[in-house]
Amino acid sequence: MTQEELFKKLVAHCKEYGFIFPSSEIYDGLSAVYDYGQQGVELKNNIKRYWWESMTRLHDNIVGIDSAIFMHPKIWEASGHVGAFNDPLIDNRDSKKRYRADVLIEDFIAKQEEKIAKEVEKAKKRFGDAFDEAKFLETNARVADYRAKRDMAHDRMVDALNRNDLEELRQIILDCEIVCPISGTRNWTEVRQFNLMFETKMGSVSEGANTIYLRPETAQGIFVNFLNVQKTGRMKIPFGIAQIGKAFRNEIVARQFIFRMREFEQMEMQFFVRPGEELEWFKKWKETRMKWHRALGFGDEHYRFHDHEKLAHYANAATDVEYEFPFGFKEVEGIHSRTDFDLGNHQKFSGKKIQYFDTETGESYVPYVIETSIGVDRMVLQVLSASYEEQQLENGETRVVMHFPPALAPVKAAVLPLVKKDGLPEVAREILHQLKFDFNVQYDEKDSIGKRYRRQDAIGTPFCITVDHQTLEDRTVTVRYRDSMEQKRVAISELSSMIGAEVGFRKLFDQLIG
Ligand code: GAP
Repeated sequence: MTQEELFKKLVAHCKEYGFIFPSSEIYDGLSAVYDYGQQGVELKNNIKRYWWESMTRLHDNIVGIDSAIFMHPKIWEASGHVGAFNDPLIDNRDSKKRYRADVLIEDFIAKQEEKIAKEVEKAKKRFGDAFDEAKFLETNARVADYRAKRDMAHDRMVDALNRNDLEELRQIILDCEIVCPISGTRNWTEVRQFNLMFETKMGSVSEGANTIYLRPETAQGIFVNFLNVQKTGRMKIPFGIAQIGKAFRNEIVARQFIFRMREFEQMEMQFFVRPGEELEWFKKWKETRMKWHRALGFGDEHYRFHDHEKLAHYANAATDVEYEFPFGFKEVEGIHSRTDFDLGNHQKFSGKKIQYFDTETGESYVPYVIETSIGVDRMVLQVLSASYEEQQLENGETRVVMHFPPALAPVKAAVLPLVKKDGLPEVAREILHQLKFDFNVQYDEKDSIGKRYRRQDAIGTPFCITVDHQTLEDRTVTVRYRDSMEQKRVAISELSSMIGAEVGFRKLFDQLIG
């Protein structure tokens, strides 16, 4: 199965098992907007909890807030979003489709890399054990050609983006002979800038309504509350403020399911530090955040950093944590050294002094900021992609299993009476009642036990608890483990502690502080 086919299957699986639905589906959907179903919302809430508690509980100098989505429109002038939150767009005149110019070029670059990988694969087959990959990459003429094209496109694009040179972006597209994926032609328009913020009106028109924006990031809600939190919480630098909330961007190239949406959620933390110490903290936060990702146990080799060459208008260093999705390595989280840009500009635009008096140095200054910013939905997609497996069983059957880390699994245990009679459902419901105050548990008595196990595998439930006739005699049940499918007998009285030890967040947190 190709990675593309695998991804299609995952999307279908998400719908079939109540993880994610297209929004407004009975009205044919709304592009790049999605709803979370009964399993999806549990998974998403668990991911948020993992992030929130690792920030606000494991660090005694980080506190949380929940600021409003609607904010004073001047905030977006101060932040630079009104002037510079743009995507360079290009239209194909034949298909009438609109694309991000930089994404077209990035796709071209990725294609060259795929071609190089294919050449290596072919040569490996041809030469067998005698194959020397390093030498091949160095000497093969076709590889050299693909490499040259890749590097040319990359270097010119970075330079054009840095200089905001839209004509050059178009020229790269023409020079690389990039065609529209729909029409197959090179009939391109000029490249234009397009602002990504959604506008709406506040107040009635007769009162003279004001144009306001749906926030494109949660970060600004933290910056404008810097003094409120610092003063009321008596916070001393270095300290951080964390927030989880919705953000909105009118993405033109919305694609890959919930990877790029128009309405999405972010988990952002702004860490305020002394000027001059920001790059040291940037390095620390890079390590801390990578640890958080890797603790989930999906394999360290699937993560990497991608340091930015083109820095955003507010940053003096930036990197992405990338995960290897079925469609390649892509950004899950951004870590940015935002300097004093935001607080400094809010001071300027609001006319209010935003300074911190450092009792250790005796100085007042505008603090510098390290930001960690991760998309909740993108993290959900990462966990779904990493967990999905179509497994071939020894008996010739296949099962689809979601290998969620137990702390993130939507349902922690399913309680299943072997048959719907002989008093077994009553005992099963009694167990359910005992567990439901601590865990999200499900009861299921429909269909054969095998089918019920498959349904739980498909939503990633770590434990299936089967009540059978022996239970009536000795108050033990069969516990089946999702990943190994092993079964063992456990006393009903031990279920709670056994499940608790596996599904709690403690195992993850221990790795973060260790
Ligand atoms: N405050 C900084 C900021 O917003 P960003 O790199 O634009 O930085 C941070 O976004 C994270 O938000 C990304 O790494 C990604 O996980 C998520 N994100 C951004 N745009 C998104 C979109 N359209 N759909 C889903 N997630 C998105």
